[in-house]
Amino acid sequence: MCGIIGYAGHRDAGTVMMAGLKRMEYRGYDSAGLAVVGDRLEVRKAAGKLANLERQLQTHPIGEAHLGIGHTRWATHGGPTDANAHPHLGPAGRVALVHNGIIENADALRAELAGAEFRSETDSEVAAHLLERAVVGGRTLVEAMREVVARLEGTFTLVAIDANTPGTVVAARRNSPLVIGVGDGERFLASDVASFIEYTREAVELGQDQIVEITATTHTVTGFDGTPGTTRAYHIDWDLAAAEKGGYDWFMRKEIFEQPKAVADTLLGRITARGELALDETRIDPAQLRLVDKIVVVACGTAYHAGLIAKYAIEHWTRLPVEVEIASEFRYRDPVITPTTLVVTISQSGETADTLMATRHAREQHAKVISICNTNGATIPRESDAVIYTHAGPEIGVASTKGFTTQLIACYLLGLYLAQVRGTKFGDEIAELVEELEALPAKMQAVLDDLGLTLTLARDLLREPVYLFLGRHVGYPVALEGALKLKEIAYVHAEGFAAGELKHGPIALVENRLPVFIVVPPRGRDQLHDKVVSNIQEVRARGARTIVLAEAGDDEAAAFADTYLPLPSVPTLFQPVLAILPLQVFACEVASQKGYDVDQPRNLAKSVTVE
Ligand code: M6R
Repeated sequence: MCGIIGYAGHRDAGTVMMAGLKRMEYRGYDSAGLAVVGDRLEVRKAAGKLANLERQLQTHPIGEAHLGIGHTRWATHGGPTDANAHPHLGPAGRVALVHNGIIENADALRAELAGAEFRSETDSEVAAHLLERAVVGGRTLVEAMREVVARLEGTFTLVAIDANTPGTVVAARRNSPLVIGVGDGERFLASDVASFIEYTREAVELGQDQIVEITATTHTVTGFDGTPGTTRAYHIDWDLAAAEKGGYDWFMRKEIFEQPKAVADTLLGRITARGELALDETRIDPAQLRLVDKIVVVACGTAYHAGLIAKYAIEHWTRLPVEVEIASEFRYRDPVITPTTLVVTISQSGETADTLMATRHAREQHAKVISICNTNGATIPRESDAVIYTHAGPEIGVASTKGFTTQLIACYLLGLYLAQVRGTKFGDEIAELVEELEALPAKMQAVLDDLGLTLTLARDLLREPVYLFLGRHVGYPVALEGALKLKEIAYVHAEGFAAGELKHGPIALVENRLPVFIVVPPRGRDQLHDKVVSNIQEVRARGARTIVLAEAGDDEAAAFADTYLPLPSVPTLFQPVLAILPLQVFACEVASQKGYDVDQPRNLAKSVTVE
């Protein structure tokens, strides 16, 4: 939540800030602002989307400067107003600061600063006051930052400039992300590498509780205690084009269509010439994996739905019990975690606060943690024992799409790897499944090449206020995910149910013409298939309009469909990778036709970095 940026270099800071904020707007769009130091410190900020700030800059241009900070906000403390927008200034306007996170002891600190005049209701402004006090008292900006962070509780990444120190930006990082971009004669600080990708692809990962000082040519990292900090430099393996819409109307639509490639990239290099699985980033000793007696998958939102699907696959292949839990619930219920529990955290961003806290909690209980993540160097993988990166490229649309399908692939790979290591599947069985995995990108492409019916359906059902989604087995989490997509971007009531639960309550919701999406498992699973076909008949008999996603040629299911969306044949466990595609497209099209901002739905932000 919130995107922050800092810059020191030879370019025009205002231009760099605005370009960077544009690429980070998905992180929060309640307000935006920037501050630069040229002849003097200047600030511009505006409530609402970045376009408002752009307009302000046209009417009140900012002076030429080569040093600046910027912020795009998802509001926590204080509403989305001009005054609450960042940057915040110290009382004399000497220091400007942007903040991502929550300062939990802000009220106590505010009370201590009795007499000071605050211009906003934010927790962040307190940090600006404290910082300015320290520099006015003679500390350098770095010393002042060190002094201030020692007083703060909560999560905070701060980036600050001082009008009297024109060549330097100083930042501190605790819990919220911050990366250094290293260019030629310029340095960047940002929540997300996307914000500086057009200038450099060289990045340095900042650790927990570190302070960094950048100038145009240097970056110096120390711990909160002043000791030299260790960092990891890396090359970003995607470019500017990946962070742009490339002709699509929405990032979400672009990302939906990128899925075959994202899945292929996530599989790449994971399978040896002998058809065995090699997970290079898995740094847990296989001997230790053989001792595991329980797996707990922890995640939020869409990643949680991927975890629900993982349970079916991993239990089936490894015969290990798998629990799946929403991260925000996990830590607070005192879960039974032992050193032989394997915890798998799934997070596209790698920064979700609840998932991060769950990771830490699991490690405190001496469990091994493997994270599945799409963001190189993010906090969750850094703090895990091992990581399986999904290679989806940047996901910018708030609604997760390629994040989800690549998470599924990583879960399948992990399940098969565990089966291989633990000997619960024969080599030839694994090889067969691997072959099916490798065939998925082409089958996904076939679904995406044939979306006419889905798009027509979206336009026909546009005005419907309620939608149901049903599935059994792995089709159940697909139903949940289909409903979530529609809720979050089309603002309609959509619910996913386990089809077998229908008769225990939800069927009472079914009335004439209610659109009901049903995910039907492939016919290989006879009983499962037949049960779902019965469920279709049950809702149809009560007047529902049935939209059936089933294997091509499944005449039994098609017979009860008002709309039949055929899917290529795959093993049951892999069907979610295909079945979710029309549901993503449906949601995107409904929201788009309604005129909503698909990429930046109301009240949401891409990565939820506060609990
Ligand atoms: O970055 P993460 O995968 O940890 O994010 C988890 C959820 O916040 C995320 O999946 C959210 O539910 C998406 N907006 C769903 O489309």
